[in-house]
Amino acid sequence: MSRTQKLQILPRIFLGAVLVAAGIGVGHAADAEHGKALVAAAQPPCATCHGADFKTPIDPSYPKLAGQYADYLAHALTAYRDASNPMMGRNNAVMAAQAAHLSDKDIADIAAYLASLPGPLVQEK
Ligand code: HEC
Repeated sequence: MSRTQKLQILPRIFLGAVLVAAGIGVGHAADAEHGKALVAAAQPPCATCHGADFKTPIDPSYPKLAGQYADYLAHALTAYRDASNPMMGRNNAVMAAQAAHLSDKDIADIAAYLASLPGPLVQEK
């Protein structure tokens, strides 16, 4: 293949990669409204411990969640849910019970909702 042919093909490969990435993004678009409903419907509701505004927990040792990065929250919830997986590394009885029944989509939606709330954890919000 000549250098010119290679240069002509590169943008097509790049465009293909962008379209694939966009497709993945759309397929997994997080739904913060659904996350809000899940957080309220949990037993007990997440706000019972983490505070009604999710930045004023009932105990100073409980983490603030409002405004935390969504990918961090999703990672944390997945780690509690998959507590039996030694590679995941989080083991907390309270949160394991809270996360046990959540699907990956539920976790993404909850993370999107909590991340959207105003909080002191991220300076730019
Ligand atoms: C009974 C109290 C209680 C309830 C209810 C509760 N949590 Fe928690 N949560 C905690 C405690 C305590 C921790 C810290 C656990 C640890 O040390 O790992 C925690 C940790 C977390 C973390 C990790 C935060 C971080 O910065 O790493 C997330 C995310 C979280 N909770 C989300 C939720 C969600 C979502 C719900 C509802 C589905 C919920 N929690 C319900 C007590 C609670």
